[in-house]
Amino acid sequence: MNETMKVHKQEAARAALELVRPGMVVGLGHGSTVLWAVRLLGQWLHEGKLHDVTTVPCSMLVEREARALGIPLKQLDDVSRLDLVLDGADELTPNLDCIKGGGGALLKEKILAQATGKLVLIADSSKLSPALGTHWPVPVECIPWGRRFQAAFLESLGATVVLRRDAEGRAFQTEQGNIILDCDFGPIADPARLARQLAARAGIVEHGLFLGMAGEALLAGPQGLQRLRR
Ligand code: A5P
Repeated sequence: MNETMKVHKQEAARAALELVRPGMVVGLGHGSTVLWAVRLLGQWLHEGKLHDVTTVPCSMLVEREARALGIPLKQLDDVSRLDLVLDGADELTPNLDCIKGGGGALLKEKILAQATGKLVLIADSSKLSPALGTHWPVPVECIPWGRRFQAAFLESLGATVVLRRDAEGRAFQTEQGNIILDCDFGPIADPARLARQLAARAGIVEHGLFLGMAGEALLAGPQGLQRLRR
């Protein structure tokens, strides 16, 4: 990540934290932009700029960071509501449909997204795209058993499929012990149809198409901060 992009991610994260009010229960997605939001939240709570905020992280990495900063944490099953969820995106269109899962946390990210009435995406503005799939493959989380047949199914839908690997070259494992097939469809003409096809397939646990879920996106770039609403 270059320095400019890092600064843009920090700006988007800062703008998102301005939405947080005392008393809120805030869901935290995953990724580097969310981590910037977590660090700033830790700082604001420490300085007294914010108080009485509870967070619900969706990944072990984000949970570790939040815990180290002394941010109050709860598990999803221990809260009765999520006032707000802050999460990153890999690619998003102006109507706020997006592809997520670059960090491998798409399943729990989608659970958080469906558990709140307010999902706010935070990203640098380079993530904005005219059509999903133009710049980013769709991550598809599958159970490991039968993955060759899932790959063949995904290819039959038009994707070039790559098994995601970790730094040691082994099949990447999600926190749920599943694998991820990254599916390059090119620009996707009908994301809703594709989402239905993926959801109907046994063995596919979840996919990275987040359609109609986000209410707002905060995108920081060379032109400053852009606020998109659905
Ligand atoms: C995690 O699984 C993803 O959905 C992230 O939210 C997405 O990859 C954005 O990551 P960055 O904030 O690191 O760009």
